[in-house]
Amino acid sequence: MAGFTNQAFRIICNNCGADLTFSEMTSTNGIIYNNLKTLNIITKNNREKKFAVQLFGHEPQKFYDAIKIIQDNKKIIFDIIDINFGCPAKKIIKNHDGAYLLNEPKTIFEIVKKCVEATTKPITVKIRAGYDKINVLEISKIIEQAGASAITVHARLATQKYSGISDWKLISHVKKNLKIPVIANGDIKTCNDIKNVFELTECDAVMIARAALNNPMIFLMKDNVLYSSKDIDNKIKIFLEYLDLIQEFNIKFNSIKSFIFAYFKNFPNALAIRSFVNKCESVFSLKKYLLDFFIIKNNY
Ligand SMILES: Cc1cc2nc3c(=O)[nH]c(=O)nc-3n(C[C@H](O)[C@H](O)[C@H](O)COP(=O)(O)O)c2cc1C
Repeated sequence: MAGFTNQAFRIICNNCGADLTFSEMTSTNGIIYNNLKTLNIITKNNREKKFAVQLFGHEPQKFYDAIKIIQDNKKIIFDIIDINFGCPAKKIIKNHDGAYLLNEPKTIFEIVKKCVEATTKPITVKIRAGYDKINVLEISKIIEQAGASAITVHARLATQKYSGISDWKLISHVKKNLKIPVIANGDIKTCNDIKNVFELTECDAVMIARAALNNPMIFLMKDNVLYSSKDIDNKIKIFLEYLDLIQEFNIKFNSIKSFIFAYFKNFPNALAIRSFVNKCESVFSLKKYLLDFFIIKNNY
């Protein structure tokens, strides 16, 4: 998730049970023009599980070139390349990237095909139900024909952005008509949602985005029991582990403030935490504040 995903967040999601995580969406131009900041966000640490680098752009050759650069760079470790045809943000659409391409099936085919040619690693694709009209089945079939290994469907139109609901029935339709694995996405917030979406769509996996910001423990399913997001001690413990990782990876404190707000959104004392974080300038003082504020069991 752009603005939220970094190695620390991915590791805590992995520790909570997520088997596959994705980089923030990354511009093919950024990679080609050797933007160091870009390269830093697309490598995994050896403590991570499966990791996909997500690319966006609109020129097939640039996808090809970007993948070659990533592959040839020994410092970049990844397992999968994922292509973003789902982002509805204004600046992305204006550039004819992301979900804009859902109206251009031919370009989608060429991009996926070129990516498959560029690497032996799996190419996966993330789409929405359509741009302003539903064409998810047509687009999914084209993506499969072009050689993709899996597809994630966020079943909202791009023009809906985040309004309305993700129509899981559309995902079920895609699953019935495709041979490659289908990953369901959109509005999966609880253990019950996970169960329901698997049942309804017969999908191969689920992708969880916003709910993981507030509750990475959503991945912690054991015998179908979801650890309650109200489990304050556990949530604090996971957050302190996250802060340790932020320090270890030298991630700037300012860049994680939005995540901190999201994480503590429904917490008792969320307002007090928020106002402290607004003034706070280092991981060190936030850690101290949290340890003073909450009585941590298990002697973290
Ligand atoms: C702040 C934010 C950043 C996002 N960044 C990305 C991104 O970089 N790549 C991507 O494929 N989807 C991105 N998404 C979309 C999510 O991956 C997901 O498709 C969408 O939020 C619906 O799933 P959810 O209901 O589980 O959140 C982003 C969503 C949000 C809210």
